[in-house]
Amino acid sequence: VSKESINITHGGDLDQAAQLFGVAREQWLDLSTGIAPWSWPVVDIPTEIWQRLPAVKCPFPQAAADYYGCKPEAVLAIPGSQFAIQTLPKLFPENTRVALPQLGYFEHRKAWHKAGHSLVDYNDGSLALLEGKIEAGELDVVLAINPNNPTTTLLGRDRLLHWCDLLARRGGCLIVDEAFMDSEPGMSLAAECPRPGLIVLRSLGKFFGLAGLRLGFVLAESPVLELLSERLGPWAVNGPAQYLGSRALADTDWHVEQRQRINEAMNEKIALLKSINWGGKSSVLQGPLYCSVSMPLKAVDRWYNQCGKQGILTRRFVRCEFDGLLRFGLTKDAAQLERLAKALSASVEQGSSSVE
Ligand SMILES: Cc1ncc(COP(=O)(O)O)c(C=O)c1O
Repeated sequence: VSKESINITHGGDLDQAAQLFGVAREQWLDLSTGIAPWSWPVVDIPTEIWQRLPAVKCPFPQAAADYYGCKPEAVLAIPGSQFAIQTLPKLFPENTRVALPQLGYFEHRKAWHKAGHSLVDYNDGSLALLEGKIEAGELDVVLAINPNNPTTTLLGRDRLLHWCDLLARRGGCLIVDEAFMDSEPGMSLAAECPRPGLIVLRSLGKFFGLAGLRLGFVLAESPVLELLSERLGPWAVNGPAQYLGSRALADTDWHVEQRQRINEAMNEKIALLKSINWGGKSSVLQGPLYCSVSMPLKAVDRWYNQCGKQGILTRRFVRCEFDGLLRFGLTKDAAQLERLAKALSASVEQGSSSVE
């Protein structure tokens, strides 16, 4: 299996996992996504919402603006941040020079490549080099995934705003994918919007656990929002998504509870993962809604398979020829954590910790 196909395969495909490992679909513990295991408790949707056409444009810029701390005119609702990821590259002239994280949500790379642009990679070790390129005017667009999925890297606000202003001065822009930022709103650039050259993407799929709702937001200056609106057409965000989304965004008590739940589950998860001997050089990285364990590629594959055989689906990533990440989503409760702990210790006994 190629590096590219491993990195681009989305998590959550239990049918494929069932086929691959011979474990029935309903027996899986799915830790292969970064979607919160507790979702915002959806309320009943009045029949009228299903019957009538929804507002042509999403009617709740204020609820979104209050939640993101930005101005309402900077907000455009979209059917999942994936829409913006696929569409933004089409708004730039061919051969736009765009810098992307070497490892990060792969749909970005796919879309920029498909639109015929010039792609430049960066990683945690080459941020100074990247900044040099921005200063020298060698880049038109910088894409940051903040925090990064799956590497967990979180770039500071000052650094990103500095890049944004340098890029904007030459007509370029900074795109920040903040799909996983809700647990740490203080690190977000959302409140800066609208700002010249800044485009922020947000999602209701992860923190709110509503990936199936297909609702996200672009926060940007109005010319960008107008171009995206044209591509969207009318009624792009369906009525039930508008109805539930506006309520989820306004439910501040639930936001606080969800952050606490995530914190507690994360602390337990980190403690478990740190207690495991993964084999070879490894480190446990804490993300917003997932943990990634970096280790030699052979160990990644072995752990992925050992977990799979025991009905626990994880997600693996290739970083380079020798090295990769195994990513674990959060467990929902003590029973799930215990099941994971048992599966990991059974794998250690079967020799997972020794790398060939
Ligand atoms: C970093 C990142 N951004 C965006 C998305 C797309 O999310 P959605 O279209 O559900 O908002 C994903 C999905 O996994 C992601 O990992």
